[in-house]
Order: sequence, then C-alpha cells, then structure tokens
Amino acid sequence: MDQTAAKRLAAQAALKYLPQRGIVGLGSGSTARFFIEGVGALVRAGRQLRGVHTSEESRQYALTCNIELLDEAGPWEIDICVDGADEVSADLDLIKGGGGCHTREKIVNRAARTNVIIVDESKLRQRLAEHFPVPVEVLRFAHRATEKCLCRLGEPQLRVQDGQPYLTDSLNLIYDLHTGGIDQPAELERQLLAVPGVVETGLFVGRADRVIVAGDGGVRELTRDRRGD
Ligand code: 5RP
Repeated sequence: MDQTAAKRLAAQAALKYLPQRGIVGLGSGSTARFFIEGVGALVRAGRQLRGVHTSEESRQYALTCNIELLDEAGPWEIDICVDGADEVSADLDLIKGGGGCHTREKIVNRAARTNVIIVDESKLRQRLAEHFPVPVEVLRFAHRATEKCLCRLGEPQLRVQDGQPYLTDSLNLIYDLHTGGIDQPAELERQLLAVPGVVETGLFVGRADRVIVAGDGGVRELTRDRRGD
C-alpha cells in the first residue's frame, strides 16, 4: 500500500470514534485532510458535528467541506480531536509541526477530551527525533538570540520556504532542532519552553489517547494502556 492510501485508511478508521453530535478538533496536514473530508461527508449525511480548526489550512478545507466552525477565540468543549503526526514513539509520544501548525494543534489537543492520532506506519519509531527534528516555533523578535539558547539543546536550523524564512499562521518563525534520538521528551520540552522567545515545541508528550496506524497489514490501533491493538 502506498503512503497516501495508508493515510486515507487511517483517517477513515478514525471516523468511527465521532459522536452523533458534538465538537471535533480538526488536525492539519495531508492525513488530517482525509479525516476532514470524512467529517464533511458525515455532516452532509445529517450528523450534527461542528469543528475547531488547528490551522489556516484546516480552516479553509473544513469550510470547503461545509463543516461549521466554532469561533477561533474559544474556549471550546471539544469531544474529540483527530490529527496527524510526524513521528510516534513506542510510548505514544509525538513529534508534530512538520507543517508548522503545532502551536495551534497543541492548543486544540489540550482542549479535547480525547485525542486520536492518525498515521501511516512509516511514522512509527522506537524513540523520537532520530530521523526528524523537533520543530520549535519562536518569536521573530530577537530570534537569533533565541537560536543561540537553542544551540545548548541541539542544532537549530531556521526553516526556510521559497528562499524566505517560513512564517507560521501566527507570523512566527520555526527552528527545526536536530537533537539526535530523545530519551526524555518531557524534559526536553520543559527546557525548550524555558527559553525566552520560544512559543511552543512540536513535542507532544502524553497527548495521544489512541494512535491509528495504517499500512500493508491493514489498520491497527495503539492506546496508552495497551500498546498492542
Ligand atoms: C502539521 C502536523 C502534521 O500533522 C504532521 O506534519 C503530519 O503531516 P502529514 O499528515 O501530511 O504527514 O503536525 O503541523
């Protein structure tokens, strides 16, 4: 199965966890896009679901799919949030932010009663950050000073797109922090958040209740209590 087909399968498998009526956190990225499409189909079929977007991209796609969105100022009572990830560790901790949306994604994740992560099997790792850097959103003000502090925790690389510094939906910058494999993600997150100028990190520690993984063997589900199915 190719990666796109696996992403679609994982996204479709998450739809069974949606309530008949309620509020759904809508993740960002290509996997979450398949999920949003599925929510749109349920809404068209009469399901009373409203959404909270996690990025400008997911806002626009949700509206295209005719999903009513709550005011982005919040606060919200989100029944379930479904989102993708860049890496999932054996402990079900995550790296997110490959698409630069992790700050809003983390806010919506925190506001949700249940968080379901949907991935193709290429995202599974024994430990985080051996292959993927940790995205760190930072203020533009004094970002070179922030970068200097980040150097104590790894090798920060300013994210660039089309030759220009990449800007998030909140008009901040991203430093992708190359750390090598992380043994204690919670500790690294704590250290990163202590750096002035850091807005949010792409480490999601203990924030996934269920991970739906799709690949050649079909779909399987990992939960924090039972890592098996
Ligand atoms: C965006 C994210 C995405 O969920 C993550 O990058 C995975 O993306 P994709 O589903 O396209 O592989 O965290 O900030």
